[in-house]
Amino acid sequence: MSAEPPNRRTHQLERFEREFGAARALRRVVAPGRVNLIGEHVDYSDLPVLPMALRQHASILFAPRDDGRVPLANVDPRFVPREFEIASEFEPFAAGDWGNYAKAAAQILARDHGATRGFDGVVDGDVPTAAGLASSAALVVACALALCVANELALEPLAFADLCARGERYVGTHGGAMDQTVCVLGRAGHALRIDFAPLRVEAVAVPSDWRFVVANSLVIADKSGSARDAYNARRASCDTAFERVRAALNEPDLRPPALLARHGEAELLEVGARTLTPLELARFRHALGEATRVERAVAALRRSARAEFGELMNASHASLAGDYDVSCRELDELVALQRRAGANGARLTGAGFGGCTVALCSADRVEPLLAALDREFFRPRGAPLAAFAALACDGARVVE
Ligand code: GLA
Repeated sequence: MSAEPPNRRTHQLERFEREFGAARALRRVVAPGRVNLIGEHVDYSDLPVLPMALRQHASILFAPRDDGRVPLANVDPRFVPREFEIASEFEPFAAGDWGNYAKAAAQILARDHGATRGFDGVVDGDVPTAAGLASSAALVVACALALCVANELALEPLAFADLCARGERYVGTHGGAMDQTVCVLGRAGHALRIDFAPLRVEAVAVPSDWRFVVANSLVIADKSGSARDAYNARRASCDTAFERVRAALNEPDLRPPALLARHGEAELLEVGARTLTPLELARFRHALGEATRVERAVAALRRSARAEFGELMNASHASLAGDYDVSCRELDELVALQRRAGANGARLTGAGFGGCTVALCSADRVEPLLAALDREFFRPRGAPLAAFAALACDGARVVE
């Protein structure tokens, strides 16, 4: 699942160092991707989620500038060089262009914090793109962090995560704040329970013999491209469903977590059945069920109850495939295969429509699980094994 052959990468980075390193101090930031363990398509309804930050990350080697230019190269040849001038309002590049993630960071920092100075930079990284592992959030956070260094801005981590989440909506996806928050605040060896409005996090230790295996369905899930409308439509249905149920209960000001706490899942579903279209009701049912599963999963994680956590992952996948309709044949095949090969549970992770699955197993099941994936999923497709055991890592940081 790595991006570029090391020789081309090394060559690009060395060229950058030769060009800029002699006269100016070079800095480097890294920002991880994430795998969401449970709590899918609920962050935009302010309901809790449980992701962890990955070892795979985006990094930027950069030299701060005195003016507002941001010329960016990328070691990955699929992403051609991009350049723009920092401003609090600017037109995006074409939809799906990688440069928009840098513009997203620049626009929000200019608008909210008066950032005016850019940087010369080269982007590197190994988070698989369009695979449900938040490569886009990693890039936005890395760019924002580089801009903070260039502009001598020190933001508090939660405020910084929230800013990056608002910033990323610039690309046209009406996402929640899960990806950027775990990217900024992830902690080695821990999953992160995230609650929203107001944003807050709690790190929960992952038991030492648990492993989360991530497998790529090889189906492109481009959230800023082809999957964007489908994603935004899911969010719109949920917004409408909560709005209608709130109105029916005469609770106009309650956000979904408070509404769920006050009325409970059964009553909300009963009101939903009277007030929502069948499609809205299905989306609503997923959101409520998933929120309850996250609470249970956090408790199971604390008790090291692996089998129970796995069951919750299975139930999450069933709900995402059925009520939420964001799975596909390859994702369903992967989760079934991983359960057969000894996983306690498996589900799609991220927005869906392709991308990756995550499976839970004991440390000694990792090798047999990877072997089964290779034999039964990747080799028949003539593809190299695109799966790995995830390592929970720390969040974004300035490393040089
Ligand atoms: C994407 C979004 C997140 C979240 C997930 C689905 O990764 O960026 O905010 O909504 O999809 O859980």
